[in-house]
Amino acid sequence: MIDLRSDTVTRPTRAMMAAMMEAPLGDDVYGDDPTVNELEALAAQVTGKEAALFVCSGTMGNQLAIMSHTQVGQEIIAGLHSHVIQHEAGAHARLSGVSAMTVDTHDPITADQVRAHTREADIHHPLTSLLCLENALGDGRVATVDQTAQAAEAAHQLGLMVHLDGARLFNAAAALGVDARELARPVDSVMFCLSKGLCAPVGSMLCGSKGFIARARRNRKVLGGGLRQAGVLAACGLVAIREVRGRLAEDHSKAQAFARLLMKSPHVHIDLDSVRINMVWADIHKPGLDAAAFVAAMKAQGLLINGLLAGRYRFVTHQDVSLEQLEQAAGLITAYLA
Ligand SMILES: Cc1ncc(COP(=O)(O)O)c(C=O)c1O
Repeated sequence: MIDLRSDTVTRPTRAMMAAMMEAPLGDDVYGDDPTVNELEALAAQVTGKEAALFVCSGTMGNQLAIMSHTQVGQEIIAGLHSHVIQHEAGAHARLSGVSAMTVDTHDPITADQVRAHTREADIHHPLTSLLCLENALGDGRVATVDQTAQAAEAAHQLGLMVHLDGARLFNAAAALGVDARELARPVDSVMFCLSKGLCAPVGSMLCGSKGFIARARRNRKVLGGGLRQAGVLAACGLVAIREVRGRLAEDHSKAQAFARLLMKSPHVHIDLDSVRINMVWADIHKPGLDAAAFVAAMKAQGLLINGLLAGRYRFVTHQDVSLEQLEQAAGLITAYLA
């Protein structure tokens, strides 16, 4: 099967499998798994933060950040279309007891929006305490260092903390040609995923100050996320950061190539400028086109794609799909639409 549903479908690399076998292990709840400790130190280093915590998933990392930056009854600001708001099952309300003030935009949140969405001091209002940013954005576009810094500065001036959902932080950094530390510098905490384009089977990293990570470590225990010989997984994370991170730009070039191939169909519209990372968002319109039938027909021919997401189709490139397979996939789609 050619699988373009997400970069989360990537399998661990051979080097990861070997690293799993060799990893020195301990009990991470006691803090003595050397492989986890090495991964946490490396994650802190590559994001320019004091400390890091290995967590089960990106969702867990984001939610631990919210829980560790806020108090029950406070409010967070986040993009209306962000992962935290749309795809984490309302966890901020359930787990941290905070409300969310959403910013109705598909673009990076601006300083003016931060100011406009922060509550005034008034006993009728919850206290706004955290701004959640996202980079890369869910639609595959990226926020620049300046955009991130401006939003974060406005938040800090208002006394808010800032968390960055950087599930694809290194994709964003590669797309912008900057060091990920530059994107993370303006924010207080950042989460990045090992298990997407970086190919690790499990895990994400939450990074921030020592005090913040100590609180998050305690909260991770509360959620049942304290793992024991987690070094078998952390070993893959080390390979992901050391070996796979450097080749993410190849996935971006493959996305550009795939977009151009799809655009040969008159029924497909793609804004090529929006293809910044490994994601292609396509408007596909043809009278009578049924999304479920389209997806099923592709599956029957060996191509896995998602159905409509917010009215569009999303195709994601990654290490486990070659340029030849992308040509084949584009051929199947354009032929079906013809
Ligand atoms: C922007 C963003 N944040 C967070 C996550 C959550 O990651 P996980 O699926 O590991 O919980 C995702 C997953 O796709 C994501 O795209």
